[in-house]
Amino acid sequence: MNPIENDLETARSKRRFVFNMYATARQVFIGLVMVFLDFPAFNLSPLNRAKNAILSRATGAQLASDCLIRSGVRAENWRNISIGNQTYVAHSVTMHAGASIVIGEQSIIGPEVFIASRGHDPQTLHPTQAPVHIGDRVFVGARAVILPGITIGDDAIVGAGAVVARDIPPLAVAVGNPATVLKYKTAARSVWTIA
Ligand SMILES: CC(C)(COP(=O)(O)OP(=O)(O)OC[C@H]1O[C@@H](n2cnc3c(N)ncnc32)[C@H](O)[C@@H]1OP(=O)(O)O)[C@@H](O)C(=O)NCCC(=O)NCCS
Repeated sequence: MNPIENDLETARSKRRFVFNMYATARQVFIGLVMVFLDFPAFNLSPLNRAKNAILSRATGAQLASDCLIRSGVRAENWRNISIGNQTYVAHSVTMHAGASIVIGEQSIIGPEVFIASRGHDPQTLHPTQAPVHIGDRVFVGARAVILPGITIGDDAIVGAGAVVARDIPPLAVAVGNPATVLKYKTAARSVWTIA
């Protein structure tokens, strides 16, 4: 390596180091905010609204004022995440948001659900991204996995443990791996609210 290349490589590795330190500090800060805000009192309105405002500010996510985010929710790239009003995100949900992950209103995301809008090209393993969209009044059962590029229609249900590899139409109840439609709900709209 000639001296110029050497200097360039040193500068690059310094930049990588600074970036990694910044990313780590940010993750630690978000983790601390999450722990602090997990006291039960913060789940009650109007404290929940304050919590969502602080979380939005700290993470860059778009959190509606009346959504409820429980403890242990983790995300990569919070900035790509948007969660609608009256939507409940249960404990230990994980979101890998390489592209946008949009969750509508009055939806329930069950415990330990995994949502990814990033993946890897099967041939080259290069990183890939595709947005995920979860509609309004959707219920995603515990430990379901939602893969990149998926759209889940309004009023649909995803069963516990399902692996959603294809879009789910509105009102469908889908279960299994890969998730397939078991039946359709009637068109009656949910009136569920968090409070
Ligand atoms: C998907 C779900 C809502 C369906 O409920 P349901 O309409 O009452 O369905 P049923 O219990 O009548 O089951 C219908 C069939 O689907 C099967 N089934 C139900 N849920 C399933 C699931 N998650 N995965 C695979 N198969 C499932 C049942 O075994 C049954 O099969 P069969 O007809 O061959 O006997 C429910 O089973 C579920 O997964 N709920 C999630 C609960 C949860 O995650 N709770 C924690 C967060 S609050």
